[in-house]
Order: sequence, then C-alpha cells, then structure tokens
Amino acid sequence: MDIGKYDMNKTNIILTGFMGTGKSTLGRLLAERLDYRFVDTDQLIEEQIGQSIADLFAQQGEGAFRNLEARLVQDLSQKRELVIATGGGLVLNPDNVTVLSQTGRIFCLTATPEEILERISSQQHIRPLLQDPDPLARITELLEQRDASYRQFPQISTSGLSHEQLLNKLLRCIAAGDPA
Ligand code: S3P
Repeated sequence: MDIGKYDMNKTNIILTGFMGTGKSTLGRLLAERLDYRFVDTDQLIEEQIGQSIADLFAQQGEGAFRNLEARLVQDLSQKRELVIATGGGLVLNPDNVTVLSQTGRIFCLTATPEEILERISSQQHIRPLLQDPDPLARITELLEQRDASYRQFPQISTSGLSHEQLLNKLLRCIAAGDPA
C-alpha cells in the first residue's frame, strides 16, 4: 500500500467513534504500519491519575473526566507522528476537535448498536455511560445524540471486516485523502 503522500506530512492520525468500534485495536495496527507511536487517551488518563476511568466517574463525575480529556488534547497537540485513539466522547467537545484537527486527520469508526454491545460485553473494561439495565437501548440513544458530532469526520464502517481488511481500508483513505 502506497502511503507516501500521507507520510510526507508527518502529522497525526486520530481515530474516534463510539465505544466498542475498535479504535484502539485498529490504532495499534496502524501505528505499527506507519511506524508512528500509538496512544490511547483513556489509557493515558488512567496512567496520569492512577485510577480507572470507571472509578473517576464514580468519585468525581463525568465533568472531571472531560476536563482531563481536554487537558490531554492540549498536550498531545504538541506532538507529531502519533496515532491517537480517543475515548468515544472526546470529540463531543468542539474545542478538542479544533485542536486535534490542527495536528492531523480525524477518522470515525462505526459499527451497529448490536455489534457495539457484543464487543463491549466481551471486554473487561467498564464503560460507566453504559451501565444501564437496557444497554442496547442506551447505546442506540447515545449514538443518536452523538450522530452530528461523529458525522463531521470521514466514516469508516467496521462491520464484517477482519482487522487486516479494516487496516487496509483505513490506509486507502489516508493515502487518497478521501472518506471511506
Ligand atoms: C466514553 C468512552 C470511553 C471512555 C469513557 C467515556 C464515551 O472510551 O472515554 O468511558 O463518552 O463514549 P472508549 O470509547 O474507548 O470506550
């Protein structure tokens, strides 16, 4: 795959999208392929505060988490040659989008509510926003609320694709500078 056109720019690639769309998995593979450094905003925040995001939400609330996300975006904006997997709500803050857009290109991974539920159910990682008696309804509701924010970016559907197929799809988008 020829990624020469992108490579010359040496900017960041940012993967966003709803919880469970595979941002971190794909981000790691992409970073390896581009020889960039991979960072996951949730993981960096957990390392900074020495506790899990679920505990932070429980003890200090979502607002405290969103403030940490915004501060981290400022820090990351000083760096280049990163593949950044964002937490699913990070791009709901337009200031974060403005800052990140100046450092690179943002792509949004998508999946159906059913696929999202299946993926997050098989993961250890607790998502405070999905602790609901009817998680599928909650996912659907949040996807609707967030639709306009996610649609600002090129959409990359992950449905039915292997990791390798998805990586190639993303590399094609990066090389072409076009949406998926
Ligand atoms: C959130 C997504 C989570 C994490 C937090 C809030 C969201 O990250 O940042 O639980 O608002 O969508 P993942 O998208 O990596 O699960």
